[in-house]
Amino acid sequence: MNKETANTGSSASGEIGRPDRRTFLQKLGVAGALAGFSGFTFQFFRSLIPNVLYEPSRRFKVGYPDHLAEGMTFLDEKRLYLFREGKSYYAISGSCTHLGCTVRYSKFQKPIERELDGEMVQIPFEFQCPCHGSRFYADGTNYEGPAPEPLRWYKLELAPDDGQLVVNLEDEVDRYFRLTV
Ligand code: FES
Repeated sequence: MNKETANTGSSASGEIGRPDRRTFLQKLGVAGALAGFSGFTFQFFRSLIPNVLYEPSRRFKVGYPDHLAEGMTFLDEKRLYLFREGKSYYAISGSCTHLGCTVRYSKFQKPIERELDGEMVQIPFEFQCPCHGSRFYADGTNYEGPAPEPLRWYKLELAPDDGQLVVNLEDEVDRYFRLTV
């Protein structure tokens, strides 16, 4: 009787409770392992994606040469002036070399004559900066206001895949550059 009572007592306090606790701890262990594995898996796949900022390309197509209008075309979103003179093409930045405001194209009523690089040239238009009054001749030469340098010229090339005009903002060229197509 005493033995029975002792067994029952021991079951009530330990034998019944122990398997429940063990199961609970096992489940907790499995859950922890799964959480750890998920975290590791996430980190692994995340590490395959490079940490880079995707900036707009510095080299972009602007259409087919023969579709470009004769004279000046302004690409607003790129702040770039494209010029076509028959079969020749060139590109001048619209960003003022003082503090970067967008310069405006302004055509003279009558071309003016100026000496540039020891040569008298006819200048049909200029660029004017609305911010602090800098002015640039048609070839980008700064001649008035605080702009310290001429406007930048960028290289034009033809895309090898489809023949479109490509502007390369990473390649500055001098003001004599022309792409002849
Ligand atoms: S930003 Fe053009 S003159 Fe200052």
